[in-house]
Amino acid sequence: MLPGVGSVRPWADPGVVELNRLPMRAPTTAFPTTAEARKNDRVHDGDASPWRRTLNGKWNFRLYESPDAVPANAIIKAPTGSSWLRVAVPGNWTMQNTGDLPQYTNVQMPFDGPPPSLPEKNPTGVYRRLFTVPSSWDGRQIVLHIGGAESTHVLYVNGQWVGYGTDSRLASEYDITDFVERGDNDLAIVVSKWSAQSYVEDQDQWWMGGLHREVFVEARGATHIDNLICDAGYNHVVGSGTLTVTTIVGGLTAPTAGWKVTTRVETLQCKQLSKPVTKKVPHISYRPMGFFGHKVDASFTLPCIAPWSAESPSQYRVVVELIDPAGEIAEAHAQVIGFRSIVISGNELLINGQPAWIFGVNRHDHHPTRGKALTIDNIRDDLLAMRRHNITAVRCAHYPNDPRLLDLCDEIGLYVVDEANLEAHAYNTSLCNDPAWRTTWLARAARMVERDRNHASIIMWSLGNEAGYGRNHDAQAGWIRYADPTRPLHYEPASFHEGWLDGGRHVSDVVCPMYPTHQDTAAYAGDRPFIMCEYSHAMGNSNGSLADYWDTILATPGLQGGFIWEWKDHGLYTTLPNGKKGFAYGGQFGEPIHDGNFVADGLMSADLVPHPAMQEVEWVYRPATMEKKGANLVITNRRSFTTLDDLAATWELNVGGNVRGSGTLEMPTVSPGQSVKLPMPCATPTDPDAHLTVTFAQRAATAWAPAGHVVARDQVQLKAAKQAKITRPKAQLQPGGDAPRTPASAVSKLLAAPIELSIFRASTDNDGYKLMPQLHERYGIGGTSLQSWQAAGVDTQPADELVTHDHRVEVLDDGSEVHHHIVNVPDALDDLGRVGMTFQLKPGFDRTRWFGRGQLENYPDRNRGAMVGTWESGIDAAPYLVPQEFGLRTDCRWFEFVKSGSGEAVRLDVLQPTVMHVSATRFTAHDLFAAGHETDIKPRKTLVVHVDVAHRGIGTASCGPDILEQYRVPTGKHAFSYRLSVR
Ligand code: GAL
Repeated sequence: MLPGVGSVRPWADPGVVELNRLPMRAPTTAFPTTAEARKNDRVHDGDASPWRRTLNGKWNFRLYESPDAVPANAIIKAPTGSSWLRVAVPGNWTMQNTGDLPQYTNVQMPFDGPPPSLPEKNPTGVYRRLFTVPSSWDGRQIVLHIGGAESTHVLYVNGQWVGYGTDSRLASEYDITDFVERGDNDLAIVVSKWSAQSYVEDQDQWWMGGLHREVFVEARGATHIDNLICDAGYNHVVGSGTLTVTTIVGGLTAPTAGWKVTTRVETLQCKQLSKPVTKKVPHISYRPMGFFGHKVDASFTLPCIAPWSAESPSQYRVVVELIDPAGEIAEAHAQVIGFRSIVISGNELLINGQPAWIFGVNRHDHHPTRGKALTIDNIRDDLLAMRRHNITAVRCAHYPNDPRLLDLCDEIGLYVVDEANLEAHAYNTSLCNDPAWRTTWLARAARMVERDRNHASIIMWSLGNEAGYGRNHDAQAGWIRYADPTRPLHYEPASFHEGWLDGGRHVSDVVCPMYPTHQDTAAYAGDRPFIMCEYSHAMGNSNGSLADYWDTILATPGLQGGFIWEWKDHGLYTTLPNGKKGFAYGGQFGEPIHDGNFVADGLMSADLVPHPAMQEVEWVYRPATMEKKGANLVITNRRSFTTLDDLAATWELNVGGNVRGSGTLEMPTVSPGQSVKLPMPCATPTDPDAHLTVTFAQRAATAWAPAGHVVARDQVQLKAAKQAKITRPKAQLQPGGDAPRTPASAVSKLLAAPIELSIFRASTDNDGYKLMPQLHERYGIGGTSLQSWQAAGVDTQPADELVTHDHRVEVLDDGSEVHHHIVNVPDALDDLGRVGMTFQLKPGFDRTRWFGRGQLENYPDRNRGAMVGTWESGIDAAPYLVPQEFGLRTDCRWFEFVKSGSGEAVRLDVLQPTVMHVSATRFTAHDLFAAGHETDIKPRKTLVVHVDVAHRGIGTASCGPDILEQYRVPTGKHAFSYRLSVR
């Protein structure tokens, strides 16, 4: 039984959210001088202030079966002996060989309910270390800061119980002044993995355990600045900034008379924007009846302010000095701020008076080896990679992310939806009206706002995710609306449960649905802005019809964009059950309850390699577009605040696969949201298959990319492709499915496997969950194509047995072959993955060249960002954690398979129709389909080629709409021909 807690088990009681914890504050640090405060006005780790000591590093650690099993000795006695491990703080013990492992679940809880029941086995870590209180800290208030503990923690100092805290994604601070002595002190933090709070932390992610954010000890003055609230606004009509800085003074005792606060506002180069404001700190004897606390407000109206936006994140600095009664600076704080306004007007969310597109993604704190314990570089890498791909908004799914993320979003320029750590998915609608959970509901929202409100980047507060809609949400909304009326509220389930038109207005100022269909999106006619909090589920080979969403968004008033689910896979790097090293998904740590590879649904791999769909994302989210209207090109600036002057535009004319002209496109200044007309840079060619491509590249380096980085590309077709003709005389005509070849065929000598009809694609996660067929039954989500293919035997039977197929081959006198296929797909097979043919080339082919869409993999419903052109590439590696269809290039006119050593090439010319879809990989569809993990597949030495006349779209049915009708493979007749030759 934990000493000091005894039979009281706060972790088991949903109503106990804290004991002895200090109120939440903005993360501000005190420095002895103004100069030091200015120098450390943004993210800093560790010991920049003489009054702060980081306790990050190696701690002693022991794991117990439950909080009740922790003996008093584990907290009181010095940790000696081999049963004490050494673990890193910040860190998850589940990632550090402690015997307890991560577990992944999505909706379901990892243990039986109902809430608030807990399992008997509740891994509980005791963290121990010493820390030093120097003599220079005498007389000050000593505070211990625990940045994040999953899920609850109990704090002891020198063997004495200090307090208890919940909410694993926000910091807890405790006044430990009365518990410490000068010199060495002993710290014990007991962290329980499960608690009643786990029921409201049931997000779709790995369950971990431990102290995953920084721990430090701080000495605050006997009188000190307790909190700093900077409310900065922007009046776009007159171009002025408004600022109210509220400084709250606290300490060991209430401040006496004579304390003052000086507030300054300045540029980052210390140029003062206004006269400093010095005010007395009210004290208790001062107007007792009208006492509003020991707080000082300083308000400024500042003309000629450069506003903050994601496009132009102008920053300023607030400096606050606490002056003691002798007139000396007792401490100084600095806070970087940005001036901007967020207003909902009609069905538009306006930033600084302008509508702005939400080019967003959802992001979890995740690292493949560090779990939830990120370094600032990990966070920066995520954000810079987002900006490289034109992503300008991030939803903190589904909890307040590491606070340093917000500093970086302010600085780099990303809009943020900050979300309370509250998801009760397994008991979705049953806790939100329950008074037992009201305190935790409110605490999680209010403490988020109190921590994060000074950040310019936050444009909306989200009340949480997937926790029904009830009175507890109304309590959250009421509190936030009073505390921070400057930001709108966001809560998806409100309109999910009560309707898009009027549902949940009290808790959500926007309609922010998840995974709506294209049709429903287009039909939206509400009076609130429509911003999808999740859409285009990026699990495996995915993000089909992203551009189709944006056609609707761009054309429909009130639709403003959304947040793709999600930024990156949550793979954890480990030794897998097959003995190989790789990224684990659910179940691979031996967890009996898990949701498999549903955790791998990112645009990026866990180690930040973009999946091919990123090509489409960056096109859809591009800031500049080019279209042809009549005899002109029209360039449009989709930004809201800045021109396109930072981008250099060039054009290129490609006719029949050859570059026929190129040059610089002289662009006048294009104002935000405006378009300009330009004359065509080239004449329309007389030859067929002509495309004009315009490329926009950065003129200068930015924080995320070097000069020359391509930000956008657009292409228009000037002349359509024409049916190719067979020009050489034919030698022989051979009927038959297997098409025996004459020795005259040069191609046949290079084939490792014959040409065969193919109607099966290795199912994507959207076609069906091959590893978790039960998920569909459990939640009613997921694609069903795979099931229908399996029922019809498409995955096991030869294609010729399921469809009728006529195949004729002509061998030409130069040894090339012309193949004609006619396939008839019966109505029963109305949703095939592909119709085409496959063959294998002998080892040695290691490069490809083609005239079609590229450069990266693309699919019929995900190829608008893939320009038509002549491309060259090595052989794609399989990009998805669970092997599945990959590597297709759509709309190919010809395709060459090349041996880079000898230059020998097999060439495929499409004859009928004008284009076909081609892939060349080291895997057959069955190789991919049979494998459960990327480490299970072995690349063949041969080159496996697929040439499809029709290929199913990709869609997003793993969580969201399946493919649109026009991307289905039709039944009936498919006729196609092509020539194979050797070069
Ligand atoms: C949503 C949920 C996300 C994630 C997604 C599917 O319902 O909010 O956390 O689970 O589905 O990947």
